[in-house]
Amino acid sequence: MRQFPRVTAGCFLLLSAYAASLPVIPGDSTRGAKIFESEQCIKCHAVNGRGGRIGLDLGRTVSRSYTPAQLASTMWNHAPVMFGAIKAAGIETPKLSPENAADLFAFFYSARFFDKPGQAAEGKSEFEEKRCGVCHGITESRAEGAPPVAKWESLADPVLLVQQMWNHSYRMKQAFKRRNLEWQSLTSGQLDDILAYLRSLPETAHLVSHFSNTSGQQGEHVFESKGCIHCHVGTLALENRLKNMTLTDIAVDMWNHAPRMLDQPPTLTPEEMRQLLSFLWMRQFVYPGGSIATGKKVFEGRRCAECHAGGAHGAPQLPGQAHKYSEVTIISALWRHGPQMLSRMKEAGIGWPSFRSAQEVADLIAYLNSVQ
Ligand code: HEC
Ligand code: HEC
Ligand code: HEC
Ligand code: HEC
Repeated sequence: MRQFPRVTAGCFLLLSAYAASLPVIPGDSTRGAKIFESEQCIKCHAVNGRGGRIGLDLGRTVSRSYTPAQLASTMWNHAPVMFGAIKAAGIETPKLSPENAADLFAFFYSARFFDKPGQAAEGKSEFEEKRCGVCHGITESRAEGAPPVAKWESLADPVLLVQQMWNHSYRMKQAFKRRNLEWQSLTSGQLDDILAYLRSLPETAHLVSHFSNTSGQQGEHVFESKGCIHCHVGTLALENRLKNMTLTDIAVDMWNHAPRMLDQPPTLTPEEMRQLLSFLWMRQFVYPGGSIATGKKVFEGRRCAECHAGGAHGAPQLPGQAHKYSEVTIISALWRHGPQMLSRMKEAGIGWPSFRSAQEVADLIAYLNSVQ
């Protein structure tokens, strides 16, 4: 019995070695919000109603799934028109470093750009039907130890939501039992609705949205020291299971986990959860995985190869850059090299290439990273 976990732990480390070698750039929404202002994005774009009206409100929730690949492909496709608008407005085109792009990305995450949209009206009734309101008043606690909604910091920070759902689920389960309430399982759609409702209340307006991720280097240590590694190996390995999930989806999993736990699970500090999620989830989010072969076809079909395969028109050789691309760094490359690329394309009589899907960007990135 003692041998088994050790053997599988070895497998896990091997399997994750490739993903773990790809860099995740730490981002912080507070820095991102500043960049959004200092780089003048805010002159044209609003986020949740605050800012300019020339471009779109980037905080609006739309019913398409937003992933980093989607953001990168949308921004790329809109670039020539946007660069034109920036020139016309007499604004200098921002040159975003990869770190700036990571901060902006965190800022978009905090503005819930990547969330699935929730329905506040539905959420109001879910909150009652799921019995949340029995213990949680909006401004007052209705059960011992249950914080009122106005005090939920987790409403403003999705990482804290996951952490709270993990840490508290066991105590909440006990609290349900004491009150003779049946445990209520949740779907992520229901939690999206409940969160949309609670966030729309004037009583929670003071909570400041925040999101940040780390490089995830410490996350592997947390994963081991908190014992997750004992169960989450093989088919339960989390790096594959967390693909295409938002943090709200993961928070729901933490909640639904509770009735199945016999003992109190190890608690995690916010910082440990941030490390863990950066290691396990963020990496899946910024490297969704693409096909190298399809990426090569995109590279040729979208005419990137005409300049980049042989170094024509002053273009650097691609693939073959020492640095690794991700959906975040491709955004930085677009802002740093896009205007110059656009004018070289005009000279060469090549129209600005558009991507037909987010997957094309993911495939292209896999191809760009395939050659050292
Ligand atoms: C001078 C005005 C202007 C500035 C400054 C500007 N944009 Fe834009 N942006 C636009 C316009 C106009 C479009 C729409 C282009 C189109 O329709 O093809 C756009 C489109 C976008 C889109 C695609 C939106 C979507 O969902 O379809 C994103 C994302 C974006 N901009 C991000 C940024 C960021 C980040 C910055 C700052 C680094 C920025 N923009 C600065 C005018 C601007
Ligand atoms: C039977 C009482 C009870 C019910 C019903 C209940 N909770 Fe709780 N909840 C608690 C208690 C007790 C805590 C504090 C646990 C702790 O401190 O470990 C808590 C904490 C929380 C927190 C952490 C808040 C923070 O500090 O950020 C969240 C989020 C939460 N509950 C969500 C829900 C949701 C969503 C529902 C309905 C699906 C719900 N709760 C139903 C008792 C309850
Ligand atoms: C005693 C074994 C055990 C331990 C320890 C454990 N888990 Fe789990 N975990 C499970 C099982 C079983 C599932 C349910 C898988 C399913 O539903 O198919 C699960 C599900 C999950 C899921 C949802 C995955 C999905 O597919 O949606 C997440 C996220 C998760 N665990 C995180 C953690 C973290 C983080 C730790 C360490 C702090 C941890 N678990 C420790 C057994 C464990
Ligand atoms: C007309 C020629 C041309 C075409 C077509 C072209 N590029 Fe470029 N690209 C350039 C030039 C020139 C630069 C360097 C610009 C600079 O120095 O700022 C560049 C820079 C880049 C960079 C930054 C490289 C680095 O050092 O990190 C990336 C990434 C890139 N291009 C991707 C693409 C992709 C993807 C396509 C196809 C969708 C494409 N390019 C099509 C000319 C082109």
